Amino acid sequence: VPQGSLAGKTVLVTSGPTHEPIDPVRYLANRSSGRQGHAIAAAAQAAGARVTLVSGPVAIPDPTGVAVVRVQTAREMLAAVEAALPADIAVFAAAVGDWRPAEARAGKIKKDGSAPAPLALVENPDILATIAGRPQNRPRLVVGFAAETDAVLDNARTKLAKKGCDLLVANDVSHAGGVMGGLENTVHLLARDGGVETWPKLDKDEVARRLVARFSEVLGGTLR
Ligand code: C5P
Repeated sequence: VPQGSLAGKTVLVTSGPTHEPIDPVRYLANRSSGRQGHAIAAAAQAAGARVTLVSGPVAIPDPTGVAVVRVQTAREMLAAVEAALPADIAVFAAAVGDWRPAEARAGKIKKDGSAPAPLALVENPDILATIAGRPQNRPRLVVGFAAETDAVLDNARTKLAKKGCDLLVANDVSHAGGVMGGLENTVHLLARDGGVETWPKLDKDEVARRLVARFSEVLGGTLR
């Protein structure tokens, strides 16, 4: 990344999983490590941007020089994102839980010998779609991620349109790829104009640097 290529720009990144409480000791979550999102925040900071990282619960260190806001749930993540805007670039790398338990029980659910009550779920807000779709305070560049296990490019193309983002980073998270929680990533970069690039398997830090270089090109170019 050319040094200072994002100087004076503000960048918001979401990263990690969300934890959706079932009761005080249990939650619904996913296998996201936060590595790709944190690497993007670090690369944007290194490129001179002022970076806010909104992170779900992760076991990796905070990137240096970045303002980190920690959250647990999708609804907290949306509120933290709203509070961090406006930004020039928003990158939604978090693996946000699509559903949460309809009610988080105040006390621990006990095992009493009878059949367990079914776990009713309700849908979480879609943070990316909410921010990409709003008329005011929309970041100039909205970047989404698509973790897919099947028909990666087809699903990614549909998601780009449905969510209203400018760029979409798609990756194959089927078990064999080892992407979720791993150190490497093979991504496809899709643009709104139909352009698709497939990058070789790279370290997540290198994916982050290349993405940041691309963001600064796009912002300097003809986007909207
Ligand atoms: O729909 P799906 O979860 O596959 O979409 C992935 C993209 O949408 C990611 O960029 C993710 O961060 C974002 N997302 C979100 N809020 C949700 C679900 C997904 O911001 N509730």
